[in-house]
Amino acid sequence: MILREIIDRLYELPPEKIDRDDALKVVAELKGHLNSGDARAASPADGGWTVHPWVKKGIILAFRVGRLHELAPDETFRFFDKDTMDARPMSLDDAVRVVPGGTAVRNGSYIAPGVVIMPPSYVNIGAWVGEGTMIDSHVLVGSCAQVGARVHLSAGSQIGGVLEPVNSSPVIIEDDVFVGGNCGIYEGTMVRKRAVLGSGVILTGSTPVYDIPLKKIHRRGTATPLTIPEGAVVLAGSRKTGDDWAAEHRLSVYTPVIMKYRDERTDAATVLESCLR
Ligand SMILES: CC(C)(COP(=O)(O)OP(=O)(O)OC[C@H]1O[C@@H](n2cnc3c(N)ncnc32)[C@H](O)[C@@H]1OP(=O)(O)O)[C@@H](O)C(=O)NCCC(=O)NCCS
Repeated sequence: MILREIIDRLYELPPEKIDRDDALKVVAELKGHLNSGDARAASPADGGWTVHPWVKKGIILAFRVGRLHELAPDETFRFFDKDTMDARPMSLDDAVRVVPGGTAVRNGSYIAPGVVIMPPSYVNIGAWVGEGTMIDSHVLVGSCAQVGARVHLSAGSQIGGVLEPVNSSPVIIEDDVFVGGNCGIYEGTMVRKRAVLGSGVILTGSTPVYDIPLKKIHRRGTATPLTIPEGAVVLAGSRKTGDDWAAEHRLSVYTPVIMKYRDERTDAATVLESCLR
């Protein structure tokens, strides 16, 4: 039976019916495939993305069968976590710079060569990070998040994890996207190629995004995630909201606004020092 079918079957079993030793082998095999990038929670297909629920099921299975175990370099420096959620084995051969200082990359995540991970950052299980991407300090790459090549995740940006429901889209950040400092991208939002999120932009499944150049409002559909179009430059804006009382108190809510589509000025504003890589 292929791994996908084994995982589908184990996922449906009540926890007491799962043979833990068998499940541990399955989880170890899945993590190997996630580490090498052979298996992904979602992958590009025909200009869009296909979600692979069996991968998420495998990760959820890892949590179900995991038990607390000690992760202790010495007696004064100790960690406790599920034994299926260990740190990813890494070596110089991975050609990834992990700058010392509190970064953790969970086993079962793909980190392409040339990625830079500044401390402290956390890359969760199921994440996929493409070549040359910069993960700056205090960045979270949540479970199953798919981050493309040459993406810049600026300091403090949070890329949310989406494990359940298993057929839901993870957060997807395509190639050459620039995510400004302190952005938050959550709930399966998709950011298409070369888009630029100005610092402080927050995107959730419920966030409407007002597109000034195209005169339209981008929203999540019943079966489609909130999608930021290719090359859009999104800024943190606001809009008036509520009733007369709200107007009397001049209330407005935070609203991301597409001010323009990427141009030479944006390229200049987001250019990065290649020597930092
Ligand atoms: C989005 C960003 C890249 C600017 O893009 P740009 O293409 O150079 O934008 P422009 O300068 O052409 O500005 C277009 C309009 O948006 C406004 N604007 C630009 N950035 C803005 C921001 N962050 N907040 C509010 N308004 C902004 C400009 O004033 C201009 O409006 P106007 O025409 O009414 O004057 C920049 O604002 C940004 O957020 N950079 C990321 C910074 C960061 O997080 N760095 C982390 C690494 S240190």
